[in-house]
Amino acid sequence: MKFETHVAGAGEGVSAAVSLLASGGLVALPTETVYGLGADALNPGACARIFEAKDRPLSDPLIVHVPSREWLERLAVVSDGARRLAEHFWPGPLTLVLPRREIVPDLVTAGQETVAVRMSAHPVFRQVVETFGRPVAAPSANRFGRISPTTAAHVLAELGGRIPLVLDGGPCTHGLESTIVLVDTEGLHILRSGPVTAEELAAFGPVRGSVAGISAPGGLASHYAPRTPLVIGEVVARENCGLLSWQAGGDGFARVEYLSRTQDLREAAANLYGAMRRLDEAGLEVILAEPVPETGLGTAIMERLRKAAAR
Ligand code: TXA
Ligand code: MG
Repeated sequence: MKFETHVAGAGEGVSAAVSLLASGGLVALPTETVYGLGADALNPGACARIFEAKDRPLSDPLIVHVPSREWLERLAVVSDGARRLAEHFWPGPLTLVLPRREIVPDLVTAGQETVAVRMSAHPVFRQVVETFGRPVAAPSANRFGRISPTTAAHVLAELGGRIPLVLDGGPCTHGLESTIVLVDTEGLHILRSGPVTAEELAAFGPVRGSVAGISAPGGLASHYAPRTPLVIGEVVARENCGLLSWQAGGDGFARVEYLSRTQDLREAAANLYGAMRRLDEAGLEVILAEPVPETGLGTAIMERLRKAAAR
């Protein structure tokens, strides 16, 4: 244990968070997607602490969160297509991957020629980043490969003792990480599905698959993973098995978590990580996840479930 981790509400916590950022320290902050672990994005020493606290490999680049749209142009070379996306979806759960400028530390981009940038809509995050007045690098506030936190309590479970402060802004609205998009002359490439759906993006250009040479976020097949083995499939009960249910009843299961009683994909997304955590803590042998329909937000939910199931 290196730190005694304090949890503060938005009121008294904001100035403490800004002081920590200014002195090169770390602070966990709420965003509208998941909680992030923030550091001064232009201070390589501060960013190094993020990798250390998360046990994150240095090969995995960080998302930079800007205080304003003007900062986007200072950090990256912005095409008209990318600018249109920022104008429409920011502040909000969309991350743009763009050619970087010199100012961005190599540690943040993991040595790549691109940088991932987003502008959070969360009022507490905005207050912190606007008062700080500089961009904040923030990956999800979990240990590497694990389930992203959607409450301050989840952050404590992941990083308690490793960071000095968690700002508690309540549960995250979306509950899934931002959509990551790269724009090029062919159109929009979704590198990670998220709250901004392919259907919504289609209004801004043809939506393509991944791009050769650009590693998919996380880079690894296994991510967002509980410790208990998770399988996706048909709902058949077996002994000491938990169910992550979309619409099935839970007869015969040791433990059931319902993503949404009304089959609402938004509600399901917001509940996903909390439900996975509760099942993971229930001492089960296996977690069975019932597939959700792959439209709209369902695409992002299934992407997370597949990564959680990969071993
Ligand atoms: O909603 C979110 O995006 C949250 C909140 C805290 O903002 N952040 C988040 O960060 O999910 P993280 O680090 O857990 O996931 C970001 C992903 C990583 O898997 C990384 O590989 C990818 O974004 N990434 C970062 N920079 C990239 C780049 N230049 N090119 C391609 N992928 C990149
Ligand atoms: Mg993450």
